[in-house]
Amino acid sequence: MKVNGKNYRTVWMNNNSVFMIEQNLLPFQFEIFEAKTYLQTAKAIKEMLVRGAGALGTAAGFAMAQAFLQAPKTKFWKFIQKAKKEIEATRPTAQNLFYATNKVFQDAKEAQDPVGTAIKSAQEIADKDAEDSRRIGEFGNDLIKNGYRILTHCNAGWLAFTDFGTALSPIYLAHRTGKKIFVWADETRPRSQGARLTAWELGNENIPHKIIPDNAAAHLMQNGEIDMIIVGADRIAANGDVANKIGTLEKAICAQVFDIPFYIAAPTSTIDLACSRGKNIPIEERDPEEILFQTGIDELGKEQKILVCSPNSEAYNPAFDVTPAKFISGIITEKGIKIPDKENWYE
Ligand code: MRU
Repeated sequence: MKVNGKNYRTVWMNNNSVFMIEQNLLPFQFEIFEAKTYLQTAKAIKEMLVRGAGALGTAAGFAMAQAFLQAPKTKFWKFIQKAKKEIEATRPTAQNLFYATNKVFQDAKEAQDPVGTAIKSAQEIADKDAEDSRRIGEFGNDLIKNGYRILTHCNAGWLAFTDFGTALSPIYLAHRTGKKIFVWADETRPRSQGARLTAWELGNENIPHKIIPDNAAAHLMQNGEIDMIIVGADRIAANGDVANKIGTLEKAICAQVFDIPFYIAAPTSTIDLACSRGKNIPIEERDPEEILFQTGIDELGKEQKILVCSPNSEAYNPAFDVTPAKFISGIITEKGIKIPDKENWYE
């Protein structure tokens, strides 16, 4: 991703530190955060300095590599097991996080040089995530016709992966190859990943777009203003049910009512074959404060946090919902467009 003319990945490792674009500050400030230990990286994951399926996988893989670097000679594997559990306890829904911790652990466990192997394995996860996203862009671009108005929810762009993104990757390619497209970006309350991150990314690429309130999409679909929907995925069950940011399910139901193609864009590393159906996907519940308060900047550019709800009310904050496979037109993966209508559909 290019920011101010310079190429960045969302998260990367250099020497023993993990570096990441601090996403909680976007779009107002662009800063790089350095995590020097696996616990600092885990905390950054939990507090969403880094977020989004693929970026979480890459960050978790690097956190594991840091744990291997930090582990004492005595009780080496005990330290690693504990670190793995701590990293995995940060975000329960994102499958890529578990994919990464398990891959680094397995690769290193079988190796002569566990530390070197863990670092190499984590870097491979990052590189594969970027390459998968690039390929998703190519397959997804074939579905986009000139003049399309595309709805997306949350942020499944560069920031949510190591590079390129998933839902936005085909959109970037369509625009770069000269197609005239327009994007509706759901604001995606409570953390506003659509209004803050997707809109920022689209603006950087000069792609025409507008932010809409989360409850506006059905109205636009009814009025023929949306030609196609592409969203990302946080975990895909073996039967093709998809967990994604809260609010995705209602977009999918509306899309079926109004006969609008509804696509998921995700690498196969997001598929959890151990999870037979969507009902079994753990749904992260986040702090109610994310609903009750909003953060932004005032006219002096200073960050402010303000209460936006009735002062004594409580809030409930499920972060994801599950869209049944029957509402999904196709899953755009790095291996092509897959339709979860038969056994082994993901191959
Ligand atoms: O809670 P987040 O921001 O980590 O949620 C992940 C998401 O951005 C979306 O659910 C996205 O569509 C999935 S893939 C990046």
